[in-house]
Amino acid sequence: MSTSVSHITEELKKLDLSQPEPVQGSLPDYNIVDVFKNYVANEFSRITDIDKSIVFAALDTPKVLDQGDLIIALPRLRLKGINANEKSKEWSEKFEKGKFISEVKPQGVFMQFFFSKSLLFELVISNVLKRKTDYGYLPLGVGKKAIVEFSSPNIAKPFHAGHLRSTIIGGFISNLYEKIGWEVIRINYLGDWGKQFGLLAVGFEKYGSEEALANDPINHLFEVYVKVNNDVRNETDEATGVKQKQEGEEEEEEAAAVIDASEQDEKKIQSPTNEKAKQFFRKMEDGDEQALKLWQRFRELSIKKYIDTYARLNIRYDVYSGESQVPQEKMKNATKMFEDKNLIHIDRGAKLIDLSKFNKKLGKALVEKSDGTSLYLTRDVGEAIKRYEQYHFDKMIYVIASQQDLHCAQFFEILKQMGFEWAKNLEHVNFGMVQGMSTRKGNVVFLDNILQETKEKMHEVMKKNKEKYAQIEDPDKIADLVGISAVMIQDFQSKRILNYEFKWDRMTSFEGDTGPYLQYAHSRLCSVQRKSDISELELENANFDLLVEPCATSLVRILAQYPDIIKRASSNNEPSTVVTYLFSLCHTVSQCYDILWVAGQEKDVATARLALYAATKQVIYNGMTLLNLTPVERM
Ligand code: ARG
Repeated sequence: MSTSVSHITEELKKLDLSQPEPVQGSLPDYNIVDVFKNYVANEFSRITDIDKSIVFAALDTPKVLDQGDLIIALPRLRLKGINANEKSKEWSEKFEKGKFISEVKPQGVFMQFFFSKSLLFELVISNVLKRKTDYGYLPLGVGKKAIVEFSSPNIAKPFHAGHLRSTIIGGFISNLYEKIGWEVIRINYLGDWGKQFGLLAVGFEKYGSEEALANDPINHLFEVYVKVNNDVRNETDEATGVKQKQEGEEEEEEAAAVIDASEQDEKKIQSPTNEKAKQFFRKMEDGDEQALKLWQRFRELSIKKYIDTYARLNIRYDVYSGESQVPQEKMKNATKMFEDKNLIHIDRGAKLIDLSKFNKKLGKALVEKSDGTSLYLTRDVGEAIKRYEQYHFDKMIYVIASQQDLHCAQFFEILKQMGFEWAKNLEHVNFGMVQGMSTRKGNVVFLDNILQETKEKMHEVMKKNKEKYAQIEDPDKIADLVGISAVMIQDFQSKRILNYEFKWDRMTSFEGDTGPYLQYAHSRLCSVQRKSDISELELENANFDLLVEPCATSLVRILAQYPDIIKRASSNNEPSTVVTYLFSLCHTVSQCYDILWVAGQEKDVATARLALYAATKQVIYNGMTLLNLTPVERM
C-alpha cells in the first residue's frame, strides 16, 4: 500500500544531526517519537548501564502534556536495592540533553523528558506536509496477510445495530492493518443459507413482486419474510391454540441472537407453510438447480444493493462469502475427526462434541443436526479451513458482537483440536450492544434507512444556521457525509466492549465530542488555508522559530504522537484510541485560533502558523479517513 521513503533522516542531516543509534524494534524513519526515544534510551543507558532496549520498552507517553513527551517509571526497570526517588533526581542531573531534549524532570519515582521544541517543529511539520496521507504509516506487518471478516448480515433479515457496529469497526480495523503494512482481505460472510431461504421462496411465490425485488431487494425480501413468518405463526396458532411470540419480541431476540434464528427456532413448528419451506431448503441442500436458481437471484440482488450501501461508508469488500459457500466435505472432516477421537456424543440423533475437556467454559457444542444438515458452528469451522487453504493468512480477525463470544471460542477450539497450527492466529474482536436504535418508521432497522434518517436530521440541524447554509454548494451531500460521521463517531467513542445508547440529538450536535464537531474542525482548517495565498512549498520552508506561543508547542507535540496512536490502536483494536486522540487534537487547535492569527500577519509569521495549521488539518484528515469518514472541506 504505502511506499513512503523517510524524510526524517534527511531532515536531521539538514540540521547537522544524525539519527541516534536505533534500538531494535524502533522505527525512527517513520516515527519521530522513536527518534527521541532512541536518543533517551541511549543516553539513559550510558549513565545507568541498563540495557537500552529495556529502557526503550519502559518509556511511555504520559497522559497529559504537563508530564512531558516521554516518561519513565523507574520501578519498571526492576532494579534491586535502589531508591527510585533518589535515583530519578541523580540521573536527571546526569542526563545530557543534547539537541534532542530540552528538559528532564525528576518527579517522585518518575523521570519526565521534554522534547526540544525547535527540533520538534522542524521534524514534525515538514514530515507531515511531505508525507501527507502517508503520515502515520508504520511498516510493522510488511509481507503479512490479514483477513478481516466483518458486517456479515443475514439476507432477508434486518440489518441490525450489531451488524452496523461490525461494519464500521471492521472497516476501521481493515484500514488500520493496512496502515501498519499488512495486506488486508476484507470478507463479508453473509447469512445466506438455512431454512429461512425455504421460507422466503415459499413466501415469494405468494407475496413476491419482481418489480419490488428489482427496486429494493433488501427491504422487499424482508417484507416477504415477515409475511410468510406470520403465516407460519397463524397456522401454528390454529393448530396449537398457543400464542406465538409477537413480532417485536422476536426481533429483539434476533438482535441478540447467539445462533442464527432459523436454526434455533426449530421448536416443532407444525404448519403446512413451514413444511413446504423445509422441503424447499432440503432441495437446496441437495443441489436442486431450480431451487438454487431462485436463491442465487435473491443473493445476487441483495449483494448488489449492499455494495452501494457499504460504499457510502467507504467500505468495499474483496470477497462476499457466506454460509452457503462452505464446502460440505470440510465440515464433515471436522465431525469425523472428533468421532475418531471419541469425542462425539449422540443425543436424540444429533451429534455433539464435548469441548469442556479442553476448556470448562466451552461446554458441549452441537455439530450436526438429526437430519444430517450442517450448523452455524460447523459452517464456521469449514469456512475457516477453506480460507486458510486459499489465502494462507497470518492472522484472521472476526468482528462479531460479544453475544457470540462463546460461539467464537468454540469454533476456535474445534480448529485447534483438529490440529491446525494456524488456529492460534484467529482473533475475535468483539463489541457491546447498541440500545434504542430505531427509525421513525419502526423498529426494524436497515443500514440504508438509518443513514437516510441521519442525513435528514443533519440537514435540519444545518438549516438552522441560515447564513452558513446558504454558502454550502451541495447541502444534501454534506448532510449525508456529516450525518454518517455522527453515527460513526458515536459508535467509536467508547471502548468497543461497552454498550451504548443511540441518541439522535447528542450525536448530531455540533457541540461536544461528536462527528459533526470533528467535521467542523477539519473544515475550519480548510477555510483558514483557503483564505491565504501561501504556497505548499512556502509552508514546508517556513521559519518555525517564529512559533513561540505555548499553544503552538502543545499542538505540535500532539501531532508528533499520531504514529504511536496508530500503533496503540493496532494492539488493542480500539477505534476509541484514535477518536480520543482526534478530539484532543481538535480541542488544542481550537484554543490556538484566538492566539495564532494568520490573517493580517507578516508573511513569515503567517507562513509558519499556517504550516502548523496545514499539518494539523492533514493529521485530522488522516485520522478521519482511517475511521472511514469522509472529511468535508466546507459545511
Ligand atoms: N450472520 C451472523 C449474524 O448475523 C454473523 C456472522 C458472523 N461471522 C461468523 N463467521 N460467524 O448473527
